[in-house]
Amino acid sequence: MDFEKYYSDRQKLQKLVNNFLEKRMQKKGISRVDEAMEYSLFAGGKRIRPILLMATADAVGVNGYNFLPVAAGLEMIHTYSLIHDDLPCMDDDDYRRGKYTNHKVFGEAMALLAGDGLLTLAFEVMLEQKNVPAEVLVEVVREVAMCAGNFGMVGGQALDLDAEGKQISEAELRKLHSGKTGAMFIAAVRGGAHLAGATDEQLLALTRFADLLGLAFQITDDILDVEGDPAEMGKSAGSDEKKHKSTYVSLYTLEGAKALAEKTVEEALECLNSFGEKAEPLREITRMMCGRKA
Ligand code: IPE
Ligand code: IPE
Ligand code: MG
Ligand code: MG
Ligand code: MG
Repeated sequence: MDFEKYYSDRQKLQKLVNNFLEKRMQKKGISRVDEAMEYSLFAGGKRIRPILLMATADAVGVNGYNFLPVAAGLEMIHTYSLIHDDLPCMDDDDYRRGKYTNHKVFGEAMALLAGDGLLTLAFEVMLEQKNVPAEVLVEVVREVAMCAGNFGMVGGQALDLDAEGKQISEAELRKLHSGKTGAMFIAAVRGGAHLAGATDEQLLALTRFADLLGLAFQITDDILDVEGDPAEMGKSAGSDEKKHKSTYVSLYTLEGAKALAEKTVEEALECLNSFGEKAEPLREITRMMCGRKA
């Protein structure tokens, strides 16, 4: 698949996710927390996790468009994690997705609730998924919960806080990155695989793929924090240094981190060897990890 075609596919998938989210958010709750939730949800994220879920289903042989409710739920969880990540008590950042961070606009308390609201709504929306056997959906949602919580993203965020201002080992940094970023990539890929009826062997290969892709993604995020263009990223650079974060750049230097990101992408691609042409969108997403600007 050539890049031009894939790019338009990705835009198409982004649009599908956005349309689904917009329609679903028309159902209003009882307070102005909805406005704060929508502010961050529609600020313009890349929608990588829902796209990954759908591209994985495609790789297994079922059209990923069928699984928009679960895919959209992942984006809600991810958006909540960003709102909380930016709070003054965490990374204390002012810009996200090209706009002021949620707490800058709505205040800290409402931003906290917007995150809570998105996290909770995500589970309602995922369970609205139709045309999937109940036991499959239950397993997918259980895995998403595990990946988002103290065994995954939340656990990784806690490790990230504890590592501020410290010199940690490569193994500890790997664990931190696997938690805070890798786990939600695993949720997306395994979710798409389960929903599409992947075999155990396919699940194994795809899980390793997702872990490596998540790692490459976060290494690249660490690199962008040093040399990225805030206008293109839609968020401030220099946030990690300001907070004395442990990152791949702080451990290995910029050049070392870039080499590791490239190596990790290669390893991730190898996991897809047994999947044919249908995995081409997944391969394109993987190749884009290195050298991305946002
Ligand atoms: C940013 O995620 C946080 C990380 C886990 C590195 P994304 O780079 O996917 O952010 P959006 O969703 O496009 O804003
Ligand atoms: C946050 O990692 C990952 C999340 C779980 C939200 P970062 O703190 O590096 O993400 P950015 O750079 O603020 O997007
Ligand atoms: Mg952070
Ligand atoms: Mg941050
Ligand atoms: Mg970062």
